[in-house]
Amino acid sequence: MAVVWLVVLTLFSSQEIFASYRDCSNIGNIRNCDECIRCAGHWCNDPNENRRCTKERFDDWCPGQQETLTYQQEVTEPGQHFKPKFMLRNIRSGADDSVTIDFKSTSNNPKIDVVFNTTQNNLSPDSSIKCENGECHTTIDVLTDTDFCDAKGHTSEFFNIKLKVDNIAEEAVMKFHVPCACACSEKVEIQSPTCNGRGNFTCGTCTCSGDWTGTFCDIPICHKKRGDVPCTDSTRSDVECSGNGVCSACDECVCFTDRIGSQYFDKDNYCADICTITNDCDDCFKNPMPGRCDLCHFPLIHKPFNQSLLQEKDDFNRNVWVACNDTLDGCFFEYVAMRDANDDTYYMVTKSCNPVEEKQVVGGGVNLTLPLVLCAVVAVVALAAAGGYAAWRARPPALPLADPLYQNIGAEDCTGENPLYKPPTSCFKNPTYGKW
Ligand SMILES: *[C@@H]1O[C@H](CO)[C@@H](O)[C@H](O)[C@H]1NC(C)=O
Ligand SMILES: *[C@@H]1O[C@H](CO)[C@@H](O)[C@H](O)[C@H]1NC(C)=O
Ligand SMILES: *[C@@H]1O[C@H](CO)[C@@H](O)[C@H](O)[C@H]1NC(C)=O
Repeated sequence: MAVVWLVVLTLFSSQEIFASYRDCSNIGNIRNCDECIRCAGHWCNDPNENRRCTKERFDDWCPGQQETLTYQQEVTEPGQHFKPKFMLRNIRSGADDSVTIDFKSTSNNPKIDVVFNTTQNNLSPDSSIKCENGECHTTIDVLTDTDFCDAKGHTSEFFNIKLKVDNIAEEAVMKFHVPCACACSEKVEIQSPTCNGRGNFTCGTCTCSGDWTGTFCDIPICHKKRGDVPCTDSTRSDVECSGNGVCSACDECVCFTDRIGSQYFDKDNYCADICTITNDCDDCFKNPMPGRCDLCHFPLIHKPFNQSLLQEKDDFNRNVWVACNDTLDGCFFEYVAMRDANDDTYYMVTKSCNPVEEKQVVGGGVNLTLPLVLCAVVAVVALAAAGGYAAWRARPPALPLADPLYQNIGAEDCTGENPLYKPPTSCFKNPTYGKW
């Protein structure tokens, strides 16, 4: 007559912390060897393999680069009473196993005690005992859940099951080894060339640092996009960035910092330099009174020429004044310009095409027009400025005229809206205006 008991195991864990639920439903998306094997997957160390982590090993999958798990030598030792008395087995995360321990017993219902401990998270072994004619067989079924391995588990983790039977001094111990991490995880190449020097490489995977992502940390994470014309073509980038910068991976102009006048390069306006910006307000040069010029869309102030100011240096020992030139109605002239901390731009004409006129203007005031007329003038000037800007964009030095791509840029610029060159939408009466 067979007697079958189901034994409720006395469970205790060597760790107080229980794993938070591990989601292994999307194993194909796992990009970490340790997490892959904890989810009962197989891992590929080839970064170019699409299926890095997979439940099944297809024939053509990851040739030569599959990560093999670290297993321990399996052992089975019989004892005086128990067969076996000691056992070491390997079991994968997410796998099941079953062991049977045989012993002799005079009783058909011996009292047994099964104790369990683990270096990781809990698992639920199930055991049953069957005795007949003095021969007992204890079967222990173990199933390591995919939550068995802790997030910080190592390549060798264990759980032990100890069997004690009343009146038998001997103990049967079954030791299960569970690889909870990949051996490759222990080899980390810091700032690896494989990751373009932007991340650590381990198990064929880059862990990118900074604002980089992608398999080889080759895709920038961009926080801000330039508003209007994207500079995506590296062959055009220095044209798009006014020749004063390069088009960065994030599609933004990064202005040079080591050029003459680079302190004035406008990052938000294709690295436009101070001369280019100031030349837009050429109507100011036609009315060269000292002081603020109201015919410009930004604060532009005309200073009488003072030779000694040209020696001024900033904190970085750069010349404060930058030499510029322009041609207006066929007349070539030179000036120097600077921008102060308040974003006010100053200029001094150094060589006028009409020195007589320049002197006259400095000497006396010029009677300008009524505010109403000014409105019209401002609008016209703004349009002229936009046109001038487009014209500058097509200026000879940076212009590969034969390049149809370049001509396309010009076309885009003409239709695109550049916030800095927006014509004013309202007119106002300037109280200082009448005093000139
Ligand atoms: C776990 O059980 C094994 C086998 O009985 C024992 O050798 C070991 O000391 C136990 N570990 C802990 C932490 O209780
Ligand atoms: C020219 O600039 C220097 C230095 O700022 C100043 O001392 C001098 O008075 C200026 N000269 C004139 C004529 O304004
Ligand atoms: C005029 O300015 C441009 C751009 O700054 C410069 O390359 C050129 O040499 C200047 N021309 C003269 C005659 O100074």
